[in-house]
Amino acid sequence: MGQKKLIRFEAIKGYENVFEYPLNAKGTWNDFFKNNNPITLELACGKGEYAVGLGKMHPNRNFIGIDIKGNRIWRGATNALELGLTNVAFIRSLIDNVPDYFNPTEIDEIWITFPDPQLRGSKAKKRLTHPKFLRLYQQILKPGGIIHLKTDSPDLYQFTKLVINLFELPLLEDMDNVYAGANIKPELQIKTHYEGLDIAGSNRIHYLSFTINKELPLALDAQLKSLLSEQEPD
Ligand SMILES: C[S@@+](CC[C@H](N)C(=O)[O-])C[C@H]1O[C@@H](n2cnc3c(N)ncnc32)[C@H](O)[C@@H]1O
Repeated sequence: MGQKKLIRFEAIKGYENVFEYPLNAKGTWNDFFKNNNPITLELACGKGEYAVGLGKMHPNRNFIGIDIKGNRIWRGATNALELGLTNVAFIRSLIDNVPDYFNPTEIDEIWITFPDPQLRGSKAKKRLTHPKFLRLYQQILKPGGIIHLKTDSPDLYQFTKLVINLFELPLLEDMDNVYAGANIKPELQIKTHYEGLDIAGSNRIHYLSFTINKELPLALDAQLKSLLSEQEPD
């Protein structure tokens, strides 16, 4: 790890708005925020542009960014402190552990911002909208809690739509090209570091919002796998 990354990694240990693998935090978040406002997560938050941007936009809501990379969290947490945003915090952890940090229904909404698309078929289970992850989110979301996905990856966008269709989940919004329309809602105008990189080269940003209104049968995961293998090039 480079010197700058190491310094940032150490610095966040002393930050009041950063928690590393916060076991015993279940049910305590409203105490931390000193209010009973709803809590939204930003998963794969990187530098936390959504946690901070939404925090500024919605002072009566709380936001927690989660990522494994401490040096990226340092950026978001520093911005939140400098802006005096007491409704924004960060967790350094694998997203895979979220049920360890929140009680059932403790979370109001989830934003997943430009997650790694994990393009290889063998990595499908690492995609943050794979049913394996949706089952984790379901454990902490309130009933009807919305999941938002913003991505530049056409593959991840189509994959997520496939999951939504296969599991018959309520799809609330589906935008193939966010910036093509008029009256783009302010939340969708927040730009992240990876959004600026346009790694997929598609020059398009996709957005989906949906809810999970039922148990996601494990048996359908095998069907998802076989649908994906049909799409794989030989
Ligand atoms: C492509 S970056 C996007 C960062 C940010 N949302 C943005 O748009 O600039 C994906 C981020 O997801 C994080 N990530 C990927 N899988 C993760 C996991 N299972 N748990 C925690 N973080 C993860 C990576 O550390 C990385 O910061």
